[in-house]
Amino acid sequence: MEGAAVCRFPPHGPEGPAMTVHAPVAFSDLIREASHAQHTEAENSAFMSEMLAGKLGVEAYRRYTGQLWFIYRALEGPVDRLADDPVAGPFVRPELARTPALERDLDHLHGGPGWRDGLTPLPATERYAARILEVARDWPGGYVAHHYTRYLGDLSGGQVIRGTAEKTWGFAHKGDGVRFYVFDAIDNPAAFKREYRALLDALPADGPERLRIVDECKRAFALNTALFRALGDTTG
Ligand code: HEM
Repeated sequence: MEGAAVCRFPPHGPEGPAMTVHAPVAFSDLIREASHAQHTEAENSAFMSEMLAGKLGVEAYRRYTGQLWFIYRALEGPVDRLADDPVAGPFVRPELARTPALERDLDHLHGGPGWRDGLTPLPATERYAARILEVARDWPGGYVAHHYTRYLGDLSGGQVIRGTAEKTWGFAHKGDGVRFYVFDAIDNPAAFKREYRALLDALPADGPERLRIVDECKRAFALNTALFRALGDTTG
């Protein structure tokens, strides 16, 4: 799935570094390749690994889902304002909205809507949500970095998490408890992801701005990893 060539020629030929020919790199390839190490780190965090290995109780999943609610409210609260933005606007798609699904899952996980009174964000969640809100306000390109990191992840590895959650804790297939991972309004996720990558490639941003967006994507991954660490620390 990965393997886009950044440069089609070795940087040092037999005569030394005289000639280096760079092929153009699609931005969707660049951001994926550049964040690969951070993806691996998030994926292999103790909390994720143990959750995917079915070693954690449903309580850990419930707490994780509760923290996601704060993050998606930060991602989705500003969408009306961003819908007309030339950079972030094309990514604002109603079929991605996760907050209603998270709320249904949380109702199910807590046996009713009482969770709304008691749910508090972990400090790591607060930092993550605050950063999303900051870029949503000041820097649309940064918002795209966070959007990509979460939604493309949910459409990809999120499906692995859903399968594990169904198997481990007995949720109905694509039912209450795992609705967050079910994109009802997207008929063909593979085609959707292709279109999403085409949007990334067409991003109206110059080279330096694209690099800043890549850096923000790495930061988004790091914020996820920090949250997993915090969740791991509070998992008894
Ligand atoms: C243990 C959990 C995870 C697993 C098993 C996993 C697995 C995967 C897989 C298999 C893909 C490739 C899908 C494809 O090529 O269509 C993918 C892509 C992706 N994942 Fe994960 N992932 C996990 C965690 C995460 C986390 C925590 C994040 C970020 C919060 C994330 C963000 C992404 C993104 C942004 C992509 C899209 C990469 C691209 O094609 O541009 N993943 N993941």
